[in-house]
Amino acid sequence: MTTDFWADADAHLLRYGATWVPEIIARAEGSFVFTESGRKILDFTSGQMSSILGHSHPDIVATVQKGIANLDHLYSGMLSRPVVDLARRLAESLPDPLEKVLLLTTGAESNEAAIRMAKLVTGKHEIVSFARSWHGMTAAAANATYSAGRKGYGPTAPGNFAIPVPDSYRPDFTNPDGSLDWTKQLDVAFSLIDAQSTGSLAAFIAEPILSSGGIIEPPLGYFTALAEKCRERGMLLILDEAQTGLCRTGTWYAFERDGIVPDILTLSKTLGAGLPLAAVITSAAIEAEAHARGFLFFTTHVSDPLVAAVGNTVLDVLEREQMDARALELGNVLRAGLLSLQSRHSVIGDVRGRGLLQGIELVLDRETKEPANDLGADIARRCLELGLHMNIVQLPGMGGTFRMAPALTSTEADLELGLDVLDQAIDEVTAESRAA
Ligand SMILES: Cc1ncc(COP(=O)(O)O)c(C=O)c1O
Repeated sequence: MTTDFWADADAHLLRYGATWVPEIIARAEGSFVFTESGRKILDFTSGQMSSILGHSHPDIVATVQKGIANLDHLYSGMLSRPVVDLARRLAESLPDPLEKVLLLTTGAESNEAAIRMAKLVTGKHEIVSFARSWHGMTAAAANATYSAGRKGYGPTAPGNFAIPVPDSYRPDFTNPDGSLDWTKQLDVAFSLIDAQSTGSLAAFIAEPILSSGGIIEPPLGYFTALAEKCRERGMLLILDEAQTGLCRTGTWYAFERDGIVPDILTLSKTLGAGLPLAAVITSAAIEAEAHARGFLFFTTHVSDPLVAAVGNTVLDVLEREQMDARALELGNVLRAGLLSLQSRHSVIGDVRGRGLLQGIELVLDRETKEPANDLGADIARRCLELGLHMNIVQLPGMGGTFRMAPALTSTEADLELGLDVLDQAIDEVTAESRAA
């Protein structure tokens, strides 16, 4: 029976906030996805920012095939070698005292568990995060998410607060030279938190680079100061490295740049390289306290062996191919290309990011930084027509920002192709808008 794909999609898919890419995707391999109509599209978002090894990496394929045939899913109280191996290897990849690992499924779930643990261990309940954060769609994660989806779902848990984002391109607190005065911004933010707090500050949860917030990289020194604010208040610092973890930014973990160690680290997207695997990692002391207080996070897919085996394979490939150095190298190529585009297209107001997580913000005028929102959607559409999938973030108060997160297995030719398509799309769309 032949059916109409798009009519069926309209009739039967519940819309969850995505705008459908108007192509039926038949297959994905390496840095590309292939449409049913025979088009080859360069995937500059590595799926949903997850497939760091490209699509259907042969090692992952082999691991899944073996796992599904031999050791798929178990009772949640049963342990298997892939789970304990992955826990040990993650601990070995991290600085002390991060050594205790909980293996879960999604990013939201890992943040849910981290926040739950922080509340139990501190005996407090207030959670602070950035005003443009994204930590997931489950209750506690969504309560700490401010970039989207807050309106219309009733009250969040009491005691969720946001602080402003240290956005160097659009500084709100400024030094005499106009640059961001993040020290002042952070001091004022915490004076407001202290004013609102009922004395129950449990944790701050942050992305080291705010991705859904528009690829905002807090300045060097910021996280040291933030960690100190947390310490002064007896709050735990949770870092959510869903997108930045596992080599993407040029180091194994993005927090390495800052010389701090979080109390709790969450990993997801990149850990399974496209398959549903997440981790919560903390110190033995915090884990012991949580356990003593009866920590419960018993789920269907906790400690599942198949995805844990995938996680081990992801680590094998990252180590074998020295992907941290590779991400840095490729990141330099991508960044140089984006800076060169910026020198030719006045619509590119800012180029920012680290390693293979880069962003460009579009403006109508570089002086006034007037946001260029519609243009971004038009450029993304044209890129797709030309064979490049891009993701654009549109938030109030900033221009449409493209998020680029190509696979770490990309070739330089893949990156050059993406840059060329983007160049052409910007050319054409800006010429059209000038003519209009
Ligand atoms: C930084 C960050 N944390 C958490 C999440 C939520 O992860 P998931 O969608 O797997 O629940 C996302 C998803 O985009 C994310 O970008």
